[in-house]
Order: sequence, then structure tokens, then C-alpha cells
Amino acid sequence: MSILFSKTVLGLQALQNHLVMAPMTRCRATDNIPTALMADYYAQRATAGLIITEGTSPSPNGLGYPRIPGIFSPAQIAGWRRITDAVHAEGAKMFIQIMHCGRIAHPLNLPAGAGMLAPSAVAATGEMFTDAEGMKPHPVPQAMSEADIKAALSEFVQAAKNAVTAGFDGIELHGANGYLLEQFIRPNTNQRTDGYGGAIENRARFVLEVVDAVAGVIGKDKIGIRLSPFGVFNDMPIYDAMEADYTYLAEQLNVRKLVYVHLVDHSPMGAPPVPDTIKATFRKLFNRTLILSGGYDADRAENDLAAGKCDLIAVGRPFIANPDLVARWETSADVSAPDMDTFYTPGPKGYTDYPKLKK
Ligand SMILES: Cc1cc2nc3c(=O)[nH]c(=O)nc-3n(C[C@H](O)[C@H](O)[C@H](O)COP(=O)(O)O)c2cc1C
Repeated sequence: MSILFSKTVLGLQALQNHLVMAPMTRCRATDNIPTALMADYYAQRATAGLIITEGTSPSPNGLGYPRIPGIFSPAQIAGWRRITDAVHAEGAKMFIQIMHCGRIAHPLNLPAGAGMLAPSAVAATGEMFTDAEGMKPHPVPQAMSEADIKAALSEFVQAAKNAVTAGFDGIELHGANGYLLEQFIRPNTNQRTDGYGGAIENRARFVLEVVDAVAGVIGKDKIGIRLSPFGVFNDMPIYDAMEADYTYLAEQLNVRKLVYVHLVDHSPMGAPPVPDTIKATFRKLFNRTLILSGGYDADRAENDLAAGKCDLIAVGRPFIANPDLVARWETSADVSAPDMDTFYTPGPKGYTDYPKLKK
């Protein structure tokens, strides 16, 4: 009897199986507004138990990449409403990933009046894509004042309220992969000398304030968080206290009883390994749902669920190329490979045109 394909619950929500579609930025949101094409894409994949959307900005300041969606304007809320309706009609539940890019941005990708904000004025190494001028080096971001921090906190809260208005079953805070929340957690990007910098109790403060404030308005059963302990993406180097810092976060998140923690492991994409010990620490210290991700196939997913390592399995790239991934895995059918060249390009190619199995 498969665990993976059996029904389960996530907090107060019933899920049709244990498979989660991982959040994936696809850059199809023209003018940062969710489109009808995006509704088709997500509805095609709604045999998953839970769909987590692509990273979606709570603020004009957080729109670091071209054509990523927001959840701060009425048009964006209306666009997402069409998508949640289409997904719910197919049976999946849907959380929106709230991603503020912070320093991982370029002014050419930001709307007029928006700025590149980060805990400290430390530029990321490397370059990022802009529609206007192609690859550009990451500029130095502006260090946030305490007023900027308060404003960003309010933006997260408003985004969470907007998400509920748009029909989402909950939100996932993007605390992983080098974006704003992780920029506060990590010492290389947080060199502040006020109450938000220094010891981990201070570096974790903004993230935990956001969790508390969002829980206060939409409830703890509607908030999950994604974290990437030992992740190095977006110029976030490993440091000595990493395991201790994330252990502190696991304890603090458990106290707050949010509905899930979702851990990233990008070693199948060539990143350094994520020690099993930190995953086990979250399993031990965090009592609600734990989602693991990274390089899963059906067998490994079933094994990790059976071993009790986690409660749900999130899958990324296989869902890009196989809209009916659940049926394919359940029947041991062949799976298609994703085309990396169309991960972030506009339009339906490599997005809504992957074939389903013939009936
Ligand atoms: C095209 C693409 C876009 C992604 N965008 C995001 C994102 O917006 N937010 C996020 O947390 N992770 C993002 N990821 C990471 C995935 O959620 C997942 O962790 C990663 O693909 C590893 O899982 P997999 O081996 O099942 O693909 C992205 C991955 C891909 C391939």
C-alpha cells in the first residue's frame, strides 16, 4: 500500500496525496500580473496534493527578476483568484510562496519607484538576467533602515491577507535560497549592529516577526516556511555556526506551531550536500508537517515517507515536464525530461505544452 499516493492532511486541509509541487519561478507573469496561461499551467498539474506557487513578491521592492508575479495589487489578486479557482476545481490545495528578492535584483527588473533593499549593503557576486539589457552584475543594495524593516513587515502581512482574498489555502514564506528572509538569517549578508544583526537571536528576528505578524492575521494553520540550511545559492557561503543557527530556527518555529517547514536540498542540482543531521534535527524539534525536497523519484519518496523522515515530498523539475506526474509515477510510466532552455522564457513553449499520457 503506497503512502505517497494515499490521502493525508496538512493542518486543517485534506490533501489528495502526499506529493507537493515545489515552488518554481517560471517568469510568465507579464507586467508581474498572473495570467490565464499560468492558470492553465497550474490546473494541468493539480493532481498533486498541494501546489506551492512560484516565488511571488509582496512588494514592488521584492520583484528582483523579470516577469515574476506579485501579490500586492488588485490586478494581481484577481489574476491569482482565477488560478486558485482552476486548481481547486481539479482537487489540489494551493499555497503561494511569498518571495521578497532583496539584494537578488536589478533596478532594470524593478518598477518605477521601487528600490533594492537588503539587511546590509553587501552585493551578491555574479550577474542576473534583465529583459532590457541581458546579464548585468548584481548592484550593491541599500541597507534597510528600521523604518524600511517595519514597512517590509507590513508588506508581508498585507500579502498574506491578499493571498487569502485570492483564494489560497495558505502561504509559504520563502526563507531559503538567498532571498530577503535568508539575507537576514545569514551573517555574510547581515552585518547589522542593531537588534536585527549579530547573534542568531537577532539575525532570526525579522523572519520570526514576519511569522508572528502573519499568523496574527491569517492563523498559524495557513503559514509554512521554506528554509535552506547548508544552501549556498545566490552567494550564501557555508559558515561554522550554520547547524546551530538552523537548530535555533527549528526550535523557534516549533514554538510558533506554523503548519509546515519545507527544507531545500539542491545537491541533486550540483550544490554541496545537505547533512542528514540537520534534516533529522528539524524532524525531531519541529512537531508539525515536515516537507523534504530535492531530487526525488517515486521510490525514494515512498522510502523516505515510510521511514518517517518527513510527512510530504515536494518535487520540482519532474512537475515541469510532466503535468500528470502523479499518474505517471503511480503507474510506473515513463517520464519526460524538462527543457532547461524554456524554464524562464515567456509564452506557452516549455510551459503548458508538455504532453500528458494518452488514455
Ligand atoms: C525553474 C526552477 C525555478 C525554481 N524557482 C524556485 C522558486 O521560485 N522558489 C523556490 O523556493 N525554489 C525554486 N526552485 C527550486 C525548486 O523548488 C526545487 O527545490 C529544486 O528544483 C529541486 O527539486 P527537484 O530536484 O525535484 O527539481 C526552482 C527550481 C527550478 C528548476
